[in-house]
Amino acid sequence: MTARPLRLGINIDHVATIRNARGGRHPDPVRAARMAAAAGADGITAHLREDRRHISDGDIDRLMAEISLPLNLEMAATEEMLAIALRHRPHAACIVPERREERTTEGGLDAAGQFDHLAPMIRQLSAAGIRVSLFIEPAIIQLDAAKALGAPVVELHTGRYCETDGAVQAAELERIRAAAAHAEAAGLECHAGHGLSFETVAPVAAIPTVVELNIGHFLIGEAIFGGLDGAIRRMRSLMDEARGSRARSA
Ligand code: PXP
Repeated sequence: MTARPLRLGINIDHVATIRNARGGRHPDPVRAARMAAAAGADGITAHLREDRRHISDGDIDRLMAEISLPLNLEMAATEEMLAIALRHRPHAACIVPERREERTTEGGLDAAGQFDHLAPMIRQLSAAGIRVSLFIEPAIIQLDAAKALGAPVVELHTGRYCETDGAVQAAELERIRAAAAHAEAAGLECHAGHGLSFETVAPVAAIPTVVELNIGHFLIGEAIFGGLDGAIRRMRSLMDEARGSRARSA
């Protein structure tokens, strides 16, 4: 059986983090999105946080207007973000948990615990033609909740797998594999992301039912040393190798 294609979504949030450190216009995350497209990315991911600490409303306007790759808008389940998503109608909206004091998205969305809060949002986003994904822990209870909520896509949080090593990491990878198999059986499209690097990407890319990886922080950091284009191309080829498919770009 030929391997299912594995898409690469590039998260450009941290280009904006560096820009915002000085408050000017450089470096421009939209330029990074253009480079990602040229380097073989299949989509762009951007998280418009409640406190606008990296991506701004203007960035979302420009990503929608200037970039031809599909935009995956990461958003908290708030009325403000819902209104923004409905106004822009990006290709996809990934609902993530958000706490003001956290440094990054820590842990997955509690889709089971927030069922009643999420249900009307998912209905409205879906009715607007936006593909909804829920960023969840690789846990059966969360997958079942996502299915019951009518979300077509789940994104499995790979943070714990990336942050650990040895037996704990192996167990976490097993949890991701089992969740990806459960997603497939439930008819959910399965994505994965958070913390992935050149070292950790291959085992996740090799899971045949995972069809999209969203990767940001490592690539933007790596770009300092070798450039963004080279970092994305290397990630792409590591993913293709692990998947058993031929690299698509030189
Ligand atoms: N997927 C989701 C849902 C995320 O929230 C993030 C981080 O913003 C990522 C993927 C990318 O994670 P990282 O920047 O660690 O690669």
